[in-house]
Amino acid sequence: MRISKTIIAALTASGIALSASAALAEGDPTQGEKDFKKKCDACHSLKEGKNKIGPSLFNIVGRQTGTAPGYKFSPDYVEAGQKGLKWDPEQLVAYLENPSKFLAANLKKARVKSRMRNKFKKIELRENIVAYLQFLQKK
Ligand code: HEC
Repeated sequence: MRISKTIIAALTASGIALSASAALAEGDPTQGEKDFKKKCDACHSLKEGKNKIGPSLFNIVGRQTGTAPGYKFSPDYVEAGQKGLKWDPEQLVAYLENPSKFLAANLKKARVKSRMRNKFKKIELRENIVAYLQFLQKK
């Protein structure tokens, strides 16, 4: 069951630190699978080595940014990966809200190039999709 935002807010307000990953574990992978098909599948395959418009997201959780084999990334992705960025669940959830803004902040640049222009505002959607991606790697 999902921890409600109100409970999280209450816990945070009362000084109990709740780590992002604890909250993330509450994402719903079953819903995430459906959301992935609707929101990501057109550009991303989950099969190893299969790149579409976007890189394959096979084993994406924990992977270094900009390293999907055979995919030609925008240079800012490669640079972020070389400087240590990897796709932990927290990073993925943050990235999906606004990819270019996330990368710019990570690289401390005013602007970056990103060909992923989609932004996903809803936190539930992002958490569910990331829970699904994590679930695939646990199998
Ligand atoms: C319209 C096409 C499109 C859609 C829809 C899209 N993406 Fe992307 N995505 C891209 C492209 C293109 C890149 C590579 C960006 C670049 O190199 O500039 C990318 C990059 C990424 C990366 C970085 C991968 C890496 O190996 O570093 C992740 C993670 C990602 N997308 C996840 C998602 C998820 C999850 C969704 C659905 C919520 C999604 N994307 C929806 C096109 C898309």
